[in-house]
Amino acid sequence: MSEVVLIEEIPVENGNGVIAMVTINRPDKLNALNREVMDGLANMCEWADSNDDVRCVVITGAQPNPPPEGKRAKPNAFVAGADITEFAGSDSTKIREMFRDNAVEAIWKLTKPTIAMVDGFALGGGCEVACSCDIRVASTRAIFGTPEIKLGLIPGYGGTQRLVNLVGYGRAMEMMYTGENVSAEEAYRLGIANKLCSPEELMDITMNMAQTIASKSMSTLKVAKKTIRAALETSLTDGVELEAIAFANLFDTEDKEIGVQAFLNRTEPEWVHK
Ligand code: COA
Repeated sequence: MSEVVLIEEIPVENGNGVIAMVTINRPDKLNALNREVMDGLANMCEWADSNDDVRCVVITGAQPNPPPEGKRAKPNAFVAGADITEFAGSDSTKIREMFRDNAVEAIWKLTKPTIAMVDGFALGGGCEVACSCDIRVASTRAIFGTPEIKLGLIPGYGGTQRLVNLVGYGRAMEMMYTGENVSAEEAYRLGIANKLCSPEELMDITMNMAQTIASKSMSTLKVAKKTIRAALETSLTDGVELEAIAFANLFDTEDKEIGVQAFLNRTEPEWVHK
């Protein structure tokens, strides 16, 4: 069990299984992604995808610790980026090694629904972790950004690609050229954040969404994820064709009949693939 990646299993209210609440836990370093965090996240992904009980994964950053006497409190952070101390003096050979077993890619490839719950800084690799989740719920304290340019770098965990998908070419260019932060309100307007709420509401709103998702048929959720993802990688014509195939295939599943019968009988569906 990793100390820097904590997992809490929260029971699904309307069904079986759990929501995995994953907390990146290095608050004194604003939850920066060092090797240990990346290993912990990679292991978490393996566990979450292979464990049938897990129906949704929520990723967040640990809240700041109370400051020592006379010191200022550290700011709230989702993740303030890759751990820059690991970059100092590194050459391409070392960095390629560091990017082996890329945990951000593992989050992106999770077959189950994922939500980033963002309170505070989501910069660099933190913005990339958030963007590798399916959905982002942000508090008004959230700050997104890709400041790598200020280090003489560019994003390295898929940010150049995934941000374009979320905000469009021009805004992605602006964010990555300038390295300037984007406020929570602006992130919501741009489509980086799906929902925006006060810090006090963040947990409830995120968990309500996670519970709503987790109450659906797991096998259908997986088909939905795979099919929506295809929109990013195929032509419109191929994507529509893939959707039609996936839609028809669902008619051979037990959960489709369960869902349709539950609607007709005005009952709650009892999914086989809970
Ligand atoms: N890597 C390693 N350590 C980091 C870090 C990172 N990406 N981001 C923050 N930290 C550490 C700081 O070094 C500091 O550690 P210390 O208290 O032991 O000195 C601690 O987290 C708190 O950060 P601090 O900079 O003191 O907080 P702040 O409120 O003054 O500033 C930020 C907050 C987010 C603006 C600032 O920390 C920052 O710019 N971080 C780097 C962001 C970045 O460039 N990310 C992309 C990396 S590719």
